[in-house]
Amino acid sequence: MMSAHRIALANLKGGCGKSTLALNLAAGLARRGMVCLVDADPQGALTHWASWAEPDASRQLVVKPADTPLNLTGLMSGADYLVTDCPPSLDMHITREVLQQSSHVIIPILPSPLDLWASHAVAGTLREIRQINPGLKAWILLNQVENSSALSRAMAQVLHQLELPILGTQVKRRAAYRVAMLEGKSVYQLGGRGRQAADEIETILDEVLQT
Ligand SMILES: Nc1ncnc2c1ncn2[C@@H]1O[C@H](COP(=O)(O)OP(=O)(O)O)[C@@H](O)[C@H]1O
Ligand SMILES: [Mg+2]
Repeated sequence: MMSAHRIALANLKGGCGKSTLALNLAAGLARRGMVCLVDADPQGALTHWASWAEPDASRQLVVKPADTPLNLTGLMSGADYLVTDCPPSLDMHITREVLQQSSHVIIPILPSPLDLWASHAVAGTLREIRQINPGLKAWILLNQVENSSALSRAMAQVLHQLELPILGTQVKRRAAYRVAMLEGKSVYQLGGRGRQAADEIETILDEVLQT
């Protein structure tokens, strides 16, 4: 049994919001306890962000690069929560190691049919990982959902056929996510400009942590 929540953000590809969501979920968790945010993407987006980011107001968030061989227990060292940002591939060794050592994985997906169909491959990988880590909980998280466009009927049908559960909370496309990253902040540090985004992140955390 794993002692605490270890949440991974993973997907087959880039540009779906792994790094954005990893840092904002970690910032939200830092209001609930000590958080270790692990950058397991060799491109190091979060390591760059952390190097010039404003210290999190809670001072409960540390960002660390992944170690080799990966040891999330060691990296966590007493933190209450661990969030890991994965590279844009499920086939990379590091991604598999992260998933084998995580309790939860969130798979951000853009609400386009192509991305949804690709998620069948994700489900296949998760079946393999669960042979080693049977307790791994997994969800798809729809990200960059347009405010105006309700999901079409076709989309709803594709969603229905997916093998993976979908989080009830969706993340809207909001300038706050881009602005926060540019300013070296999380959406929590944007004040009123980030309020709706922060509320959305809180709802996701409630939904994920209750399981
Ligand atoms: N909900 C969102 N609203 C607006 N922009 C977003 C949102 N999620 C991600 N982005 C932007 O989309 C781009 C890709 O996101 P990123 O987190 O880097 O994806 P990944 O880590 O999966 O490659 C970035 O420019 C990011 O600012
Ligand atoms: Mg990334």
